[in-house]
Amino acid sequence: LASIEVDVSSLTPGMSLTAKWRGKPVFIRNRTDKEVEEAKAVQLSDLKDPVARNANIASDAQATDLDRSAGEGKENWIVMIGSCTHLGCVPLGQAGDFGGWFCPCHGSHYDTAGRIRKGPAPENLPVPTFSFVSDTVIKIG
Ligand code: FES
Repeated sequence: LASIEVDVSSLTPGMSLTAKWRGKPVFIRNRTDKEVEEAKAVQLSDLKDPVARNANIASDAQATDLDRSAGEGKENWIVMIGSCTHLGCVPLGQAGDFGGWFCPCHGSHYDTAGRIRKGPAPENLPVPTFSFVSDTVIKIG
């Protein structure tokens, strides 16, 4: 399927689901306010990969929390391809030193905005093309 629609109505803040799109896991998380605040507090100069890696915006956009998220008014939502940018293992959620995702294969730590913070992975988890088709349905692809 070129694109899929995912019902996210059951995801209250702090809940996630994993969809499958083009053979890959896609993580969708309704972040808590705390997770968003933690991600916003990070200085861009502290990021290993300062590029947003978000297919929905300019390819050279910076990896601010807003530009990693679903954007203004929906900053609590984050949608990412769940494939570690090191060698493609599937990271675990709510794990690692930064409270985001942790890849157990070789120890890559991602923050609550899916940005690589520690370990061998070179890039932030990529954000695929997606949009909200309603308040509770996300179209990926
Ligand atoms: Fe994730 Fe190597 S594949 S750290």
